[in-house]
Amino acid sequence: MKTSYDLVVIGGGPGGYEAAIRGAQLGFSVACIEKRVHKGEPALGGTCLNVGCIPSKALLDSSHRYEATKHELADHGISTGDVNIDIAKMLERKDSIVKGLTAGVAGLLKGNGVDWLQGWGTLVDGKSADKKVKFTALADDAETEITAKYVILAAGSVPIEIPVAKTDGEFIVDSTGALEFSEVPKRLGVIGAGVIGLELGSVWRRLGAEVVVYEAMPEFLAVADKEISKEAAKLLKKQGLDIRVDTKVTNAEVVNGEVVVTTDVKGETKTETFDKLIVCVGRRAYSEKLLAEGCGIELTERGLVAVDDQCKTNLDGVYAIGDLVRGPMLAHKAMEEGMMAVERIHGEKAQVNYDTIISVIYTHPEIAWVGLSEQAAIEKGYEVKTGSFSLAANGRALAQGEGVGLIKVVADAKTDRLLGMHAVAVGAGDIVHQGMIAMEFVSSIEDLQLMTFAHPTVSEAVHEAALSADGRAIHAIQRKKRK
Ligand code: FAD
Ligand code: NAI
Repeated sequence: MKTSYDLVVIGGGPGGYEAAIRGAQLGFSVACIEKRVHKGEPALGGTCLNVGCIPSKALLDSSHRYEATKHELADHGISTGDVNIDIAKMLERKDSIVKGLTAGVAGLLKGNGVDWLQGWGTLVDGKSADKKVKFTALADDAETEITAKYVILAAGSVPIEIPVAKTDGEFIVDSTGALEFSEVPKRLGVIGAGVIGLELGSVWRRLGAEVVVYEAMPEFLAVADKEISKEAAKLLKKQGLDIRVDTKVTNAEVVNGEVVVTTDVKGETKTETFDKLIVCVGRRAYSEKLLAEGCGIELTERGLVAVDDQCKTNLDGVYAIGDLVRGPMLAHKAMEEGMMAVERIHGEKAQVNYDTIISVIYTHPEIAWVGLSEQAAIEKGYEVKTGSFSLAANGRALAQGEGVGLIKVVADAKTDRLLGMHAVAVGAGDIVHQGMIAMEFVSSIEDLQLMTFAHPTVSEAVHEAALSADGRAIHAIQRKKRK
């Protein structure tokens, strides 16, 4: 076994495996240490490919097709017989997508000459010029000391557990368990109306579960622009997601094969019973077995590895990326940080623009944004102007039966510069990429007004939202004076 590398990456999730591949492209000898075993097999791809982004989107797609077939086709004059769902088949499809992708990553590492070491990596000494990493093999627990000029820590995150609702893997589960229900729960409780609660709550609701989502905060989706979260709440409630804000779960226990949930709603105690309960109240950085005592790495108060804007830790030559460090816990953010870290090691000036990291919640319609919300822009001291456009007046959305939601732009009123784009709309996740590109090129609202958007497309609503910022939207009556 080779014991000396230019670069050792600990963690083979989207952050780690992309860093490893980029390192090999730049001519480094690279090892990527990953300890994950998924469905009995060692697996690369991290949370994202195995139990996160990909399997959740596979189930979102299956459940959306089921619901649309059942409830939307009649409007098109299409009749079907009984529409049924085979849950085992749906899960099998998800698993085969995951397997294909994780095997693909293994192929990419091999093809690029990266050694995948199957087991645990522990940074033992990060202070010396030659870093020391202990590798503990999954196969036989054998320990090997590996030296590296550079180390990237990419150990990711795990679900936060709460004492009032301890997961048991069967009735009370985390997001991983919620990807594996073998039948549709009749009643499903969800703790946390965040990204996972909305996505996985939607999956099982579409398949027939009655879903109650408990949210401790008084406001729904406080991270989003208020106009967007208000519209999203309206649409999701209409779909049947019973979202209860300002509701604290004080206890959840399994009694006779059912989950009894006790809540406190403004001082009033209530009890409800469910077949299953999902706990999704956020994730925490995962650094167990990653850092040996005395390895020299500084952590933040919240247990994240402390890094600067370039993902450098306090130790020369040691970087940390992805869910293990500050910032949103998103796969694309982890990937870009991985590439930036390696390119920095190689002496280049790569930089992630943290102001344009896109957020997407893959409900239907999707909820997505980039940049500042109206409220955040005001808090930052901008004199703000906004424009929004309802999809109820967008021809393409209506033709697709998707005429709900809105697109909104936020700009600096003084300079006209675009500060944010927000959408709750069919394909919102793709649409806000236009905002991301526009912001990267320091575009103004006027730039968006002057461009010719294809008709009929949902993107025309971006054009109209930009026009509406100056009272010039064509397919809306605007009281503002035309500029
Ligand atoms: P991870 O993907 O967590 O990978 C870290 C890897 O390191 C893990 O495989 C772990 O086994 C390994 N590891 C840890 N410690 C060690 C060690 N000491 N030695 C060896 N290996 C170790 N994000 C999005 O952007 N879009 C989405 O649609 C999306 N959907 C999601 C859905 C769900 C249900 C969940 C749970 C998450 C979702 N995310 C999504 C978040 C996304 O999965 C994470 O942000 C992303 O995986 C973080 O990448 P990472 O490389 O930092 O860490
Ligand atoms: P989250 O942070 O998105 O949402 C957690 C929610 O739970 C918050 O609204 C919070 O107020 C609430 N909460 C916290 N404690 C609570 C309690 N005791 N009772 C009731 N509510 C409580 O976290 P989530 O959904 O677990 O997702 C974790 C991470 O995974 C997210 O940060 C996200 O970045 C990532 N993810 C991203 C996806 C995407 O990009 N589409 C999809 C799924 C996850």
